[in-house]
Amino acid sequence: MSDTAVILECREVRSSYPDGTQALTDVSFSMREGERVALIGPNGAGKSTLLRALIGVQPSEGDIHVDGIRLTTKTLRDIRTRVGLIFQNPDDQLFSPTIEEDVGFGPAAMGLSREEVRERVRAALEDVGLSAAGRNPLHLSFGERRLAAIAAVLSMRPALLAMDEPTSNLDPAHRRRLIRWLRKRESETILLATHDLDMVAETCDRVILLSRRVAADGSARDILTDTDLLAEHGLEPPLGMQGIEFR
Ligand SMILES: Nc1ncnc2c1ncn2[C@@H]1O[C@H](COP(=O)(O)OP(=O)(O)OP(=O)(O)O)[C@@H](O)[C@H]1O
Ligand SMILES: [Mg+2]
Repeated sequence: MSDTAVILECREVRSSYPDGTQALTDVSFSMREGERVALIGPNGAGKSTLLRALIGVQPSEGDIHVDGIRLTTKTLRDIRTRVGLIFQNPDDQLFSPTIEEDVGFGPAAMGLSREEVRERVRAALEDVGLSAAGRNPLHLSFGERRLAAIAAVLSMRPALLAMDEPTSNLDPAHRRRLIRWLRKRESETILLATHDLDMVAETCDRVILLSRRVAADGSARDILTDTDLLAEHGLEPPLGMQGIEFR
């Protein structure tokens, strides 16, 4: 792993909101090509803030490098072709009259041919298991909109795929399909913010525990079995590792 390229490097990243909330105090870590890293932490830990900072929609200080390019106002466009962010709320992401246009928007903006765009749309919708290409996003259920938002980013095949709570609101079959998709990917570099620690155990090699700063960074096995560390941050081991007692 150590001789693969560094895709993401965050150095002393800080970010605050206009009301003074300091969401990230000093976040440093890097990710290599092909790594699958889960970003976990309690509500308000700064996970979404960090993901939004990666594409510059959230202002930050410190250094963020993607694929060797430093994030600045001048490189924003470049960075955004390399980082595909699936927002926590799909409604922040869908804006076209049909799902097909939403999913094809990124590939079209990248200058791909109509045939290639059509093929990317078909493949991405198939990957997530959504057959609603001609429908209006506003007429879909929340879970279907989540699937459309995921497809819209998959279709761009970004160097870094950043997903914010991709499984929330998905039914078990669609969640399973996404997990299978994540497990079979080998070349993609994926940063996954989530509370779904069972999915993390199945899909990620490495876990970063965020609490406005990096509280822990290690293998999924080490962190997800560290009950004390998890409890300290309001988290619990994956359900699959706990004995369930029916009442
Ligand atoms: N627009 C905003 N204005 C002020 N504070 C904000 C804003 N958005 C988020 N925050 C604050 O920033 C901190 C980090 O929020 P963030 O959404 O990044 O957390 P998160 O880890 O993604 O949480 P969750 O698990 O609930 O999605 C929180 O304290 C939150 O209240
Ligand atoms: Mg969040």
